[in-house]
Amino acid sequence: MTAVPELMRFIDIAAPGGPEALRLATKPVPQPGTGEVLVRVQAAGVNRADLMQRQGHYPPPPGASPILGMEVSGHIAELGAGTTSRWQVGNAVCALLAGGGYAEYCAVPEGQCLRVPAGISLRQAAAIPEAAITVWANLFEPRRLFAGNRFLVQGGSSGIGTMAIQIAHAFGARVATTAGTYTKCSFCLDLGAETAINYRTQDWATELAHWAQPHGIDAILDMVGGDYFPKHIDLLATGGRLVHIAYSHGSQVTVDLRTIMTKRLLITGSTLRARGVAEKSSLARAVEQNLWPLFASGQLQPVIDTSFPLELAADAHRLMESGRHIGKILLYID
Ligand SMILES: NC(=O)c1ccc[n+]([C@@H]2O[C@H](COP(=O)([O-])OP(=O)(O)OC[C@H]3O[C@@H](n4cnc5c(N)ncnc54)[C@H](OP(=O)(O)O)[C@@H]3O)[C@@H](O)[C@H]2O)c1
Repeated sequence: MTAVPELMRFIDIAAPGGPEALRLATKPVPQPGTGEVLVRVQAAGVNRADLMQRQGHYPPPPGASPILGMEVSGHIAELGAGTTSRWQVGNAVCALLAGGGYAEYCAVPEGQCLRVPAGISLRQAAAIPEAAITVWANLFEPRRLFAGNRFLVQGGSSGIGTMAIQIAHAFGARVATTAGTYTKCSFCLDLGAETAINYRTQDWATELAHWAQPHGIDAILDMVGGDYFPKHIDLLATGGRLVHIAYSHGSQVTVDLRTIMTKRLLITGSTLRARGVAEKSSLARAVEQNLWPLFASGQLQPVIDTSFPLELAADAHRLMESGRHIGKILLYID
């Protein structure tokens, strides 16, 4: 068993700004609090929200670590007071965090740790918690996606999109998506999408209206918002739902309530990071129960574009900002 050192390396934000603000630094290893475990990190997922936090636009929720990083994989190094017998020191886990992942060690509520799915390496597992839990929370709880539903995910080649396509396809939905290059569209088709529209060169709304004829689209997972909103309202089937998880084109929209009424639409959205430990833990259990068998059978695979050593976190952020990636970007610790 490796002894836990007093100090650890982590990625510090020298001052809010560009990727160059990220630098390797040293600080004491966190102490796991009551109900928490200490994880010796092997890999950490990079998320779009990390870029916003680095720029100073997305502060961590109260009480969360100020260190970047919302998902990791690694081994349990210590158990805090009051933990159950679910985990033992040495167990391999992946975990959803409110912060603290870009570091050699992080403390995490035990309920937010998940087993590493069968057939998935420990490093790959860092790519799973944020995307799988976000997709599950927004497409299956409280209302679920059914086999045969027509489902659209915007940004199909993103970390979230690559997971959403695979999960929806595995549950028997008919999947449409958008992406910004033909290469990305082709990748999305290989993941199980029935159609993939290049939103830069094609009129995606017209193409999707044609695809969804005559019924319309049953569920849309959107990370764009703004001018996409009225097009989504038009595309939805009677009883359809529109779920917002981000708004790169703006958060302010207008809508004719008559359309919502006549089509009986559900317009909703959610965030994950600010939810409490009990809710995140409950989602983690639902994901283990419902999605882990699909990883074991090979129907789901984390899509990982590039893995960088922790000290090259700035390069990982540059890659995400370039938009060239498909799927997830990881940081790893040897
Ligand atoms: N609310 C929540 O609980 C929650 C949780 C996790 C993530 N998120 C959000 O979900 C989004 C995806 O996260 P990620 O980490 O997977 O990021 P990411 O890999 O950087 O993905 C961003 C995606 O947005 C797509 N996009 C940009 N402009 C578009 C447009 N006009 N039309 C269609 N797609 C467009 C990009 O497509 P191209 O690269 O093809 O241009 C890319 O696939 C982020 O905004 C993140 O903040 C929300």
